[in-house]
Amino acid sequence: MKIIEKKEIAPEIVKFLVSAPLIAKKAEPGHFIILRHKEKGERIPLTIADFDREKGTITLVCQGIGKSTVEINRMEKGDSFLDLLGPLGTPYPINKVGTVACVAGGLGVAPLYPKAKALHEAGNRVISLIGAQRKEMLIMTEEITAVSDQVSYSTDDGSFGHKGFVTDLLRELLSEEKVDEIVAVGPVPMMAATVKVAKEFNVPIVVSLNALMIDGTGMCGGCRVTVDGETKFCCVDGPAFDGALVDFDEILNRQKYYRDMEKEAFHRCRLEDAGK
Ligand code: FES
Repeated sequence: MKIIEKKEIAPEIVKFLVSAPLIAKKAEPGHFIILRHKEKGERIPLTIADFDREKGTITLVCQGIGKSTVEINRMEKGDSFLDLLGPLGTPYPINKVGTVACVAGGLGVAPLYPKAKALHEAGNRVISLIGAQRKEMLIMTEEITAVSDQVSYSTDDGSFGHKGFVTDLLRELLSEEKVDEIVAVGPVPMMAATVKVAKEFNVPIVVSLNALMIDGTGMCGGCRVTVDGETKFCCVDGPAFDGALVDFDEILNRQKYYRDMEKEAFHRCRLEDAGK
């Protein structure tokens, strides 16, 4: 669980290359791990953004948005995480379907990358549409370019690519050419908006859900989502689901449950930093 390389790839976003031979050996696109960085650390689910079975390494991308993730991002090359549990989840289904639009918002590029790579290797034409708040928040652009036949970018402030949302790019693409499948990963509102566009054009869409998780093995029920009227567990049945059947309003509401506690813990972390 040793950190072999560490690189800050955007403000507060760190990419780690970690030695984890047993996980790398079994990892497939769509898998994730649960990380604890110290004895009383939170259990943080992170997608396996890449893996190298021969070298026994996995790549993790972490955004420092709360107490634990900020502490994780302060760890350095040579440090070791306390434990990594994985690979968890059901691998993403990789089929040769023709043209696939791979859509990501913000940190969603990290989970999107192994799927785009595998879809490309399977012989699909991969068109990647990547959105971020601003240019400096765009991550893994070289990696995505290497596995895509075409890439377009959007930023909210227009500092790179199209000014607006990634769904604008998707609508434009679907108006111009036939796309056989869409894969979307990112913040819940972005995925919900992407599903809406996919439905307008009647294109199948798979989303990768980032529900709250605790054990990651189907026991606590913390990650439950409703898909086609049935309760599913994101950690074992997903994280990939048919986007057209997901109840996004429920996920958005559940994500708000712990927001105040998260804010308080983060605030305390900042006070500790300041020595108060
Ligand atoms: S995280 Fe506990 S059931 Fe999925």
